[in-house]
Amino acid sequence: MDRLIIFDTTLRDGEQSPGASMTREEKLRIAKQLERLRVDVIEAGFAASSNGDFEAVRSIANSIKDSTVCSLARANDKDIGRAAEALAGCENRRIHTFIATSPLHMEKKLRMSPEQVHEQARLAVRFARQFTDNIEFSPEDGYRSEPDFLCRVLETVIAEGATTINIPDTVGYAVPELYGEFIANLRRRIPNSDKAIWSVHCHNDLGMAVANSLAGVKIGGARQVECTVNGLGERAGNCSLEEVVMAVKTRRDYFALEVGVDTGHLVPASKLVSGITGFVVQPNKAVVGANAFAHASGIHQDGVLKARDTYEIMRAEDVGWVANKIVLGKLSGRNAFKQRVQELGIPVESESEMNAAFAKFKELADRKAEIFDEDIQSLFSDEAVTPHSEYFRLVSLAQHSETGERPHARIVFVIGDREVTAESDGNGPVDASLRAIEGEVKSGSELLLYSVNAITTGTESQGEVTVRLGRAGRIVNGVGADPDIVAASAKAYLSALNKLYTTTERLNPQTSMTP
Ligand code: KIV
Ligand code: ZN
Repeated sequence: MDRLIIFDTTLRDGEQSPGASMTREEKLRIAKQLERLRVDVIEAGFAASSNGDFEAVRSIANSIKDSTVCSLARANDKDIGRAAEALAGCENRRIHTFIATSPLHMEKKLRMSPEQVHEQARLAVRFARQFTDNIEFSPEDGYRSEPDFLCRVLETVIAEGATTINIPDTVGYAVPELYGEFIANLRRRIPNSDKAIWSVHCHNDLGMAVANSLAGVKIGGARQVECTVNGLGERAGNCSLEEVVMAVKTRRDYFALEVGVDTGHLVPASKLVSGITGFVVQPNKAVVGANAFAHASGIHQDGVLKARDTYEIMRAEDVGWVANKIVLGKLSGRNAFKQRVQELGIPVESESEMNAAFAKFKELADRKAEIFDEDIQSLFSDEAVTPHSEYFRLVSLAQHSETGERPHARIVFVIGDREVTAESDGNGPVDASLRAIEGEVKSGSELLLYSVNAITTGTESQGEVTVRLGRAGRIVNGVGADPDIVAASAKAYLSALNKLYTTTERLNPQTSMTP
């Protein structure tokens, strides 16, 4: 059977989503989960975009062994040199270089003639060849490029040594059949097309990223799909990794392709990415949404009980869902906790991370009699186990609300090495708490989103709160979990402030002006 290469770009294209920027440590945690998932290629970042991204690519390149590690680079020597430097410690490395080829992008964004773009693409691939023979080339906005011109550019870069040719639908304009035929046509017309692996890269602006990618594979003959966990990405996102992988695996009869991904790690990967970025997964999201395997109607429940495959085409446990059962309580010890963490496949980087999570587990078990697997997972997505980001930290919170009275909150929290106490009234206890924090920190940020989700079922469940803050064009997300949703809200707000006050500015490859 042919093999389909899974190229994950959560850490590069996914991270370009406003508010999804991650620290080096967070990126490394996700990269390790992607390696556990056995994705073939991890696009770790865009090394030239900032020192932070360079360091993130470097540390991923130095620690990942089983997947190829890749860095994006615009088609110029400086970017390519920086990518090569960041990847130097990795045996399986790839440089992914790109330049826009659509008339619109060349004229308005790059202000370059087609001939200049053609030449720049040639020189970029030639230069990259000094550092590795694993080179991917992308004509940005490829799907809206003029086919004759695209054929010339792609023939040239393959002749220069590009081994993967990726055709981005940068703006999510394609429809499945046309996109598939577009790729098939390029492959037919370009004389040396068989010297490269063809790849699809689809954005989801019209909700067709997965369908387009699959058509690129089936009709176009592509053998690499670029995707992100949870479909994370700018605007409406990228092609979703879990959907494309499960489509190819479940419909093996149709696609006849082998995929190396270990699907049992899909749900933990989804939870990790959503916990770190604060991008909540919608309940009805295919494969990893909370309702993806829930049968509410009586007819369906009856059918599933009689024969599972009446209404289920995949098994929940095959994608990493674990039964929602009570596993631990306040009498459980460290060993039982550690064992369950291992059974759940939660990546734990160090003994100190395990200790921090165990301390939080004990705290939680004092307040919540039944600890579910989801609760344990939330302990690890909670910012509190990643001490680097704890400039702002909740110490305690007291609030009072009573019918007919204006709620009041008193909150003690740490700013750097200083403990402060702040108080405020508000429309509700959450409003009062967030006002108290803001009154002290004076971040001047705007609250763009506030959402609460129950981690498990029942009123005893922990609340998971996501807060999105915007300030001077920068958007960050923070997540907090606690059985008390007012405390969860305060934690989420402080977590967002931690991100707002770290400098992770970076260039965005799609919007940066010159190559
Ligand atoms: O969408 C796009 O065009 C990209 C390229 C940089 C590959 O992400
Ligand atoms: Zn993209």
